[in-house]
Amino acid sequence: MEVYLVLCFICMLPIPAKSITTVDCKPAINESLAAKITINTVILQQPRCCFDNLTNLPCTSNTCEIWLVPAVDTGLSTFDANKASSAILSLSPYPTAFTGSSPANYFLTKVGLQSDFPCVSPSPGGYFRVGADGACSTTNCNGFLPQGSSPSFKYLLVDSVNKTVLAETKWSDSIALYTLKDPGTLGDGFAGRSGAMVVITTLLSVAAAVLLLFLIVVLALCCCGGKSKGSGSVVGSVMGSFRIPRYDTHHLKDPAPYDNPAYEKERKYTTQDTLPKTKATSAVNPVTQDTIKLQKI
Ligand SMILES: *[C@@H]1O[C@H](CO)[C@@H](O)[C@H](O)[C@H]1NC(C)=O
Ligand SMILES: *[C@@H]1O[C@H](CO)[C@@H](O)[C@H](O)[C@H]1NC(C)=O
Ligand SMILES: *[C@@H]1O[C@H](CO)[C@@H](O)[C@H](O)[C@H]1NC(C)=O
Repeated sequence: MEVYLVLCFICMLPIPAKSITTVDCKPAINESLAAKITINTVILQQPRCCFDNLTNLPCTSNTCEIWLVPAVDTGLSTFDANKASSAILSLSPYPTAFTGSSPANYFLTKVGLQSDFPCVSPSPGGYFRVGADGACSTTNCNGFLPQGSSPSFKYLLVDSVNKTVLAETKWSDSIALYTLKDPGTLGDGFAGRSGAMVVITTLLSVAAAVLLLFLIVVLALCCCGGKSKGSGSVVGSVMGSFRIPRYDTHHLKDPAPYDNPAYEKERKYTTQDTLPKTKATSAVNPVTQDTIKLQKI
């Protein structure tokens, strides 16, 4: 009987004299913000009004601290078992919180003083970004959450002197982080299609080039094949066909054929060759025609 009582007494020793108050508050996502959930961060509503009803606290709102516990899987029950420890802030350092063979699966990070989150009415606002410190390495830094996890969160009121937990909120609902799609599965279908498209585009380009070459050769043979036998080159003949050595000014009252001075020295563009044989010749004023002939010779 005595032994049993002693055992019972020893069993009860680790239980703290003062229990931790659980307030009627539950952290939640701030829905009004973009990127409220990413692959490794979450934006929570601030812990306003949560701890304001507590009385007989050893600290004032200017010294009481508010901390946050992010936890995954077994981390919720592990924290609840550890929370009365006087070394709770350093029991599960962030860098090793989610690694190793049996991780604690939670960590603690400081949010601010209680006075930073006054109970304002009618609508308390603001937010706290969990994971804002990124890939950090100090014990209580606000580091990235484990990718692919569904963490839960809890705010704590911590005594500023001996760093023990005075009060806590309820656990939030577990919040599933966004997951990245495997780049391999994303790229597959598209890579196959684009490969086929490259082949088709190449074949079409080659076919178009061959067709264009064929057309050029045919054009050259048809248009200039006869004329260019003895004298000029194919290109020269083609270019020559675009030149306008002489034309009639139909809009004038007393029209006269105009000789382009640029071609005057080429013998083949004579008045007789280029003027229309019938009407145009008869319509020409003989005086001006004579003048032109004089200029040319
Ligand atoms: C604080 O007290 C008020 C009224 O006394 C109550 O309406 C409110 O829900 C309480 N807040 C918490 C977090 O317990
Ligand atoms: C969410 O954050 C914005 C920006 O700080 C704030 O205005 C709004 O009141 C917050 N919403 C909640 C529900 O806390
Ligand atoms: C921490 O200190 C406060 C007073 O500042 C005291 O009330 C409380 O019991 C202490 N907690 C522990 C675990 O020593």
